[in-house]
Amino acid sequence: MPTFPANDVLLRPLFEVPVDEVVRLYIDNRTFLKPFEPPRPDAYFTRGGQRELLDTAERLWQGGSAYTFAICRRAENDQPSSMVGRLTLSNIVRGAWHSCTVGYFVSQRCNGQGIATQALSHAVDFAFQTAELHRVQAAIMPRNKASIRVVEKVGFHCEGLAKYYLNINGIWENHAIYSVTQELWPPRSRN
Ligand SMILES: CC(C)(COP(=O)(O)OP(=O)(O)OC[C@H]1O[C@@H](n2cnc3c(N)ncnc32)[C@H](O)[C@@H]1OP(=O)(O)O)[C@@H](O)C(=O)NCCC(=O)NCCS
Repeated sequence: MPTFPANDVLLRPLFEVPVDEVVRLYIDNRTFLKPFEPPRPDAYFTRGGQRELLDTAERLWQGGSAYTFAICRRAENDQPSSMVGRLTLSNIVRGAWHSCTVGYFVSQRCNGQGIATQALSHAVDFAFQTAELHRVQAAIMPRNKASIRVVEKVGFHCEGLAKYYLNINGIWENHAIYSVTQELWPPRSRN
Protein backbone atom coordinates (compact mmCIF):
# COMPACT_ATOMS: atom_id res chain seq x y z
CA MET A 1 0.00 0.00 0.00
CA PRO A 2 1.36 3.48 -0.80
CA THR A 3 1.82 5.93 2.05
CA PHE A 4 0.58 9.43 1.40
CA PRO A 5 3.20 12.17 1.72
CA ALA A 6 2.39 14.78 4.35
CA ASN A 7 -0.53 17.06 3.59
CA ASP A 8 -2.10 14.81 1.01
CA VAL A 9 -5.19 14.67 3.21
CA LEU A 10 -7.60 17.57 3.56
CA LEU A 11 -10.45 18.23 5.94
CA ARG A 12 -13.53 20.14 4.83
CA PRO A 13 -16.81 20.86 6.64
CA LEU A 14 -19.03 17.82 6.13
CA PHE A 15 -22.07 19.99 5.35
CA GLU A 16 -20.31 21.21 2.17
CA VAL A 17 -20.19 17.68 0.74
CA PRO A 18 -23.05 16.57 -1.56
CA VAL A 19 -25.43 14.45 0.50
CA ASP A 20 -25.35 11.58 -2.02
CA GLU A 21 -21.58 11.27 -1.58
CA VAL A 22 -21.99 11.03 2.20
CA VAL A 23 -24.75 8.41 1.95
CA ARG A 24 -22.69 6.31 -0.50
CA LEU A 25 -19.71 6.25 1.87
CA TYR A 26 -21.86 5.19 4.83
CA ILE A 27 -23.64 2.48 2.84
CA ASP A 28 -20.33 1.14 1.50
CA ASN A 29 -18.91 0.96 5.05
CA ARG A 30 -22.04 -0.09 6.97
CA THR A 31 -20.80 -3.58 7.82
CA PHE A 32 -17.22 -2.45 8.42
CA LEU A 33 -18.23 0.28 10.90
CA LYS A 34 -20.93 -1.64 12.81
CA PRO A 35 -18.53 -3.08 15.49
CA PHE A 36 -17.11 0.39 16.18
CA GLU A 37 -20.16 2.66 16.33
CA PRO A 38 -23.38 3.17 18.28
CA PRO A 39 -26.39 1.38 16.78
CA ARG A 40 -27.57 3.27 13.66
CA PRO A 41 -31.24 3.40 12.56
CA ASP A 42 -31.98 2.50 8.92
CA ALA A 43 -32.73 6.19 8.26
CA TYR A 44 -29.04 6.90 8.87
CA PHE A 45 -28.29 5.28 5.51
CA THR A 46 -30.79 7.33 3.53
CA ARG A 47 -30.65 10.67 1.76
CA GLY A 48 -33.37 12.13 4.03
CA GLY A 49 -31.66 10.97 7.22
CA GLN A 50 -28.29 12.33 6.17
CA ARG A 51 -29.81 15.62 4.93
CA GLU A 52 -31.08 16.23 8.47
CA LEU A 53 -27.73 15.28 9.99
CA LEU A 54 -25.82 17.56 7.60
CA ASP A 55 -28.14 20.46 8.46
CA THR A 56 -27.57 19.79 12.17
CA ALA A 57 -23.81 19.60 11.58
CA GLU A 58 -23.90 23.00 9.86
CA ARG A 59 -25.91 24.54 12.73
CA LEU A 60 -23.52 23.14 15.36
CA TRP A 61 -20.51 24.31 13.34
CA GLN A 62 -21.89 27.87 13.08
CA GLY A 63 -22.60 27.82 16.83
CA GLY A 64 -19.10 26.54 17.63
CA SER A 65 -20.34 23.52 19.56
CA ALA A 66 -19.19 20.72 17.21
CA TYR A 67 -17.09 20.52 14.04
CA THR A 68 -17.72 17.62 11.67
CA PHE A 69 -15.30 17.21 8.78
CA ALA A 70 -15.17 15.13 5.65
CA ILE A 71 -11.75 13.53 5.27
CA CYS A 72 -10.69 13.94 1.64
CA ARG A 73 -7.61 13.34 -0.43
CA ARG A 74 -5.96 16.36 -2.00
CA ALA A 75 -6.53 16.36 -5.77
CA GLU A 76 -3.93 17.57 -8.26
CA ASN A 77 -5.55 21.02 -8.44
CA ASP A 78 -5.16 21.24 -4.62
CA GLN A 79 -8.92 20.90 -4.17
CA PRO A 80 -10.44 18.16 -1.99
CA SER A 81 -11.38 15.05 -3.96
CA SER A 82 -14.12 12.65 -2.93
CA MET A 83 -14.75 11.95 0.73
CA VAL A 84 -12.95 8.91 2.22
CA GLY A 85 -13.88 9.33 5.89
CA ARG A 86 -15.36 11.51 8.59
CA LEU A 87 -13.93 13.17 11.69
CA THR A 88 -15.87 15.01 14.39
CA LEU A 89 -14.77 17.29 17.19
CA SER A 90 -17.72 17.32 19.59
CA ASN A 91 -18.73 17.65 23.24
CA ILE A 92 -17.05 21.04 23.19
CA VAL A 93 -17.08 22.56 26.66
CA ARG A 94 -15.44 25.89 27.42
CA GLY A 95 -14.80 27.33 30.90
CA ALA A 96 -12.21 25.55 33.00
CA TRP A 97 -12.30 22.41 30.81
CA HIS A 98 -11.92 23.97 27.32
CA SER A 99 -11.94 20.50 25.86
CA CYS A 100 -13.56 18.32 23.20
CA THR A 101 -13.79 14.70 22.11
CA VAL A 102 -12.78 13.37 18.70
CA GLY A 103 -14.24 10.50 16.68
CA TYR A 104 -13.28 9.35 13.18
CA PHE A 105 -13.40 6.66 10.55
CA VAL A 106 -11.70 6.03 7.22
CA SER A 107 -13.31 3.95 4.49
CA GLN A 108 -12.20 0.33 4.69
CA ARG A 109 -10.88 0.35 1.13
CA CYS A 110 -8.53 3.25 2.02
CA ASN A 111 -7.19 1.86 5.31
CA GLY A 112 -3.48 1.45 5.94
CA GLN A 113 -2.40 4.50 3.92
CA GLY A 114 -1.87 6.94 6.79
CA ILE A 115 -5.09 8.84 6.07
CA ALA A 116 -6.54 8.76 9.61
CA THR A 117 -3.19 9.79 11.06
CA GLN A 118 -2.95 12.85 8.83
CA ALA A 119 -6.61 13.75 9.32
CA LEU A 120 -6.33 13.57 13.12
CA SER A 121 -3.20 15.68 13.10
CA HIS A 122 -4.95 18.37 11.01
CA ALA A 123 -7.95 18.22 13.35
CA VAL A 124 -5.82 18.78 16.45
CA ASP A 125 -4.22 21.79 14.73
CA PHE A 126 -7.74 23.09 14.05
CA ALA A 127 -8.86 22.44 17.64
CA PHE A 128 -5.97 24.38 19.14
CA GLN A 129 -5.44 27.13 16.56
CA THR A 130 -8.93 27.82 15.18
CA ALA A 131 -11.35 26.59 17.85
CA GLU A 132 -8.96 27.71 20.62
CA LEU A 133 -9.50 24.61 22.72
CA HIS A 134 -6.99 23.35 25.27
CA ARG A 135 -7.44 19.59 25.14
CA VAL A 136 -8.63 16.93 22.67
CA GLN A 137 -9.74 13.54 23.97
CA ALA A 138 -10.22 10.23 22.17
CA ALA A 139 -11.88 7.15 23.68
CA ILE A 140 -10.89 3.84 22.10
CA MET A 141 -11.84 0.24 22.79
CA PRO A 142 -8.63 -1.57 23.80
CA ARG A 143 -9.13 -4.15 21.04
CA ASN A 144 -9.17 -1.42 18.37
CA LYS A 145 -5.43 -1.66 17.75
CA ALA A 146 -5.50 0.36 14.51
CA SER A 147 -7.14 3.36 16.19
CA ILE A 148 -4.78 3.15 19.17
CA ARG A 149 -1.88 3.20 16.73
CA VAL A 150 -3.36 6.29 15.04
CA VAL A 151 -3.59 8.35 18.25
CA GLU A 152 -0.15 7.22 19.37
CA LYS A 153 1.38 8.24 16.02
CA VAL A 154 -0.27 11.67 16.30
CA GLY A 155 1.05 12.19 19.84
CA PHE A 156 -1.85 11.50 22.20
CA HIS A 157 -1.11 10.08 25.67
CA CYS A 158 -3.02 7.31 27.41
CA GLU A 159 -4.75 8.40 30.63
CA GLY A 160 -6.31 5.11 31.66
CA LEU A 161 -9.33 2.88 31.22
CA ALA A 162 -12.92 4.13 31.53
CA LYS A 163 -15.22 1.23 32.38
CA TYR A 164 -18.51 0.72 30.47
CA TYR A 165 -17.89 4.09 28.84
CA LEU A 166 -19.71 4.11 25.47
CA ASN A 167 -22.50 2.09 23.92
CA ILE A 168 -20.92 0.48 20.87
CA ASN A 169 -23.00 -1.81 18.70
CA GLY A 170 -25.44 -2.22 21.60
CA ILE A 171 -22.91 -3.02 24.36
CA TRP A 172 -21.45 -0.73 27.05
CA GLU A 173 -17.78 -1.09 26.24
CA ASN A 174 -14.66 -0.20 28.26
CA HIS A 175 -12.58 2.49 26.54
CA ALA A 176 -8.99 3.64 26.88
CA ILE A 177 -8.90 7.44 27.23
CA TYR A 178 -6.25 9.25 25.21
CA SER A 179 -5.64 12.98 25.12
CA VAL A 180 -3.36 15.74 23.97
CA THR A 181 -3.19 19.30 25.30
CA GLN A 182 -1.83 22.51 23.84
CA GLU A 183 1.27 22.25 26.06
CA LEU A 184 2.17 18.94 24.40
CA TRP A 185 1.45 20.05 20.81
CA PRO A 186 3.06 19.61 18.41
CA PRO A 187 4.81 16.55 19.85
CA ARG A 188 8.61 16.71 19.80
CA SER A 189 8.85 13.38 18.01
CA ARG A 190 6.26 11.31 16.21
CA ASN A 191 6.07 7.57 16.92
C1 LIG B 1 -9.02 3.02 12.82
C2 LIG B 1 -9.04 3.67 11.45
C3 LIG B 1 -9.58 5.08 11.55
C4 LIG B 1 -7.59 3.68 10.91
O1 LIG B 1 -7.58 4.39 9.67
P1 LIG B 1 -6.31 4.33 8.71
O2 LIG B 1 -6.43 5.41 7.71
O3 LIG B 1 -6.13 2.95 8.22
O4 LIG B 1 -5.13 4.66 9.75
P2 LIG B 1 -3.59 4.91 9.43
O5 LIG B 1 -3.25 4.27 8.12
O6 LIG B 1 -3.32 6.37 9.58
O7 LIG B 1 -2.85 4.16 10.64
C5 LIG B 1 -3.23 2.85 11.00
C6 LIG B 1 -2.12 2.22 11.81
O8 LIG B 1 -2.64 1.10 12.53
C7 LIG B 1 -1.87 -0.06 12.22
N1 LIG B 1 -2.76 -1.20 12.34
C8 LIG B 1 -3.79 -1.55 11.57
N2 LIG B 1 -4.37 -2.68 12.03
C9 LIG B 1 -3.67 -3.03 13.14
C10 LIG B 1 -3.78 -4.11 14.06
N3 LIG B 1 -4.72 -5.04 13.95
N4 LIG B 1 -2.88 -4.17 15.09
C11 LIG B 1 -1.93 -3.22 15.23
N5 LIG B 1 -1.79 -2.17 14.38
C12 LIG B 1 -2.65 -2.09 13.34
C13 LIG B 1 -1.37 0.21 10.82
O9 LIG B 1 -0.25 -0.63 10.51
C14 LIG B 1 -0.98 1.69 10.96
O10 LIG B 1 0.19 1.85 11.72
P3 LIG B 1 1.64 2.10 11.02
O11 LIG B 1 1.53 3.37 10.25
O12 LIG B 1 2.59 2.17 12.16
O13 LIG B 1 1.89 0.91 10.12
C15 LIG B 1 -9.92 2.83 10.46
O14 LIG B 1 -9.48 1.50 10.45
C16 LIG B 1 -11.38 2.85 10.82
O15 LIG B 1 -12.11 3.73 10.38
N6 LIG B 1 -11.82 1.87 11.63
C17 LIG B 1 -13.24 1.74 11.98
C18 LIG B 1 -13.76 2.90 12.79
C19 LIG B 1 -12.90 3.17 13.99
O16 LIG B 1 -12.32 2.30 14.61
N7 LIG B 1 -12.83 4.46 14.35
C20 LIG B 1 -12.09 4.89 15.53
C21 LIG B 1 -12.90 4.69 16.75
S1 LIG B 1 -11.97 5.18 18.19
